[in-house]
Amino acid sequence: MKKCTESDKGVDAPKRKMPARVLVTGAAGQLGSDVLSALRERGIDGIGADITEFDITDADAAISFIGKCAPTTVIHCAAYTAVDRAEDEPELCALINVTGTENVARACRAVNASMIYISTDYVFPGEGESFYETDDPTGPQNVYGRTKRMGEEAVLKILDRSFIVRISWVFGKNGANFVRTMLRLGNERPEISVVGDQFGSPTYTRDLSVLLCEMALSDRYGIYHATNEGVCSWAGFARAIMEKAGLACVVKAISSAEYPVKARRPKNSRLSKKSLTGNGFSLLPHWEDALERYLKELRTDG
Ligand SMILES: NC(=O)c1ccc[n+]([C@@H]2O[C@H](COP(=O)([O-])OP(=O)(O)OC[C@H]3O[C@@H](n4cnc5c(N)ncnc54)[C@H](OP(=O)(O)O)[C@@H]3O)[C@@H](O)[C@H]2O)c1
Repeated sequence: MKKCTESDKGVDAPKRKMPARVLVTGAAGQLGSDVLSALRERGIDGIGADITEFDITDADAAISFIGKCAPTTVIHCAAYTAVDRAEDEPELCALINVTGTENVARACRAVNASMIYISTDYVFPGEGESFYETDDPTGPQNVYGRTKRMGEEAVLKILDRSFIVRISWVFGKNGANFVRTMLRLGNERPEISVVGDQFGSPTYTRDLSVLLCEMALSDRYGIYHATNEGVCSWAGFARAIMEKAGLACVVKAISSAEYPVKARRPKNSRLSKKSLTGNGFSLLPHWEDALERYLKELRTDG
C-alpha cells in the first residue's frame, strides 16, 4: 500500500481549498478494499492502511501515520469483527473497536480531518418489527455491539465533523461472508437449516462504497443507516442465493433457539433510511439486485 511521506503533505503549496485525500483504515478487509478501489475509480486520492501500515491500538502510530498522510477524511473500516469470539475476548475487542477508534478520531482531530466511522445494526436491541431510526435508543446485546456503540460515542465526543454509518449483513469479494458460506454448503448438501426469525438487510460492499465516496466529499455530517434496500430473514437470503446461483439445495427455516451461538443476535435489524434520503443521499439498490451483481462478480473474479 502507498506510503505517506512528508513531501506528500504539500507543505509549501499556496493556501487554497484542499483537494480531497481519503485515508481508508482496514484497507485489506472486506469493506475497506472495495472502498479504496471505489475512491481510485472516481479519481479521488485514496490511501489504504491496514495493520502493517499502523496498528490503530497504538496512539502514537495513529498520530504519526495520519499526520504524515494529512487526509481530509478518514473512512474507518478497521475493526475487530469476530462477533462470537468477542464474547471470549472482550478486552481485545474493546481495545480495537473502542481504543483504536478513539486513537483514529484524535489523529483526525489533530490534522483537521473529518471521519466516517463504520458501525453496525448490533448497536440496537433488535426487538419488535419496526424500522430503527438513527436516533432511537441503542441497546447492544453482545460484546461486539457494545464496543461498536462505544466507538460511535467516542467519535461523536472527539470530532465535530463525523459520519456514523450503520450497516448490516455485509458481503463483498474480499471476505468470508454469508453468501460464500451458502454457496459452499449449497454445493455440498441437498438440504440446510438456516435461521428464519432474524430479519434485516444485506449490504453489498460495492454499493456501500459508492455512498461512502459521496460522503467523503460532502459535509452532511450525522448518523446514517446504509444497507441495500429490502428486508429478508437469513433463510430468505439463503433461498435467494441458492436460486440465483442455480443450486438445488433446499433451505429449511429454523428458529434462533434451534441454532445456538455464543453471541446473542438481534431478531429485528430493520434500519430506517430516513436520514439518508433526508440529507440528499441516494438509497442503495435492492439487495436482490445487489446479490445478482455480486454472484456475477464472483464468477468473473473467482
Ligand atoms: N461484516 C459484517 O457483516 C459487518 C456488519 C456490520 C458492520 N460491520 C462493520 O464494517 C466494518 C468493516 O467490516 P469488514 O467486514 O470489512 O471487516 P474485516 O474484513 O474483518 O476488515 C477489518 C480489517 O481491520 C483490520 N484490523 C483489525 N485490527 C486492526 C488493528 N489493530 N489495526 C489496524 N487494522 C486492524 C483487519 O486486519 P486483520 O484481518 O489482520 O485482523 C481487517 O483487515 C467494521 O467496522 C465492522 O464492524 C461489518
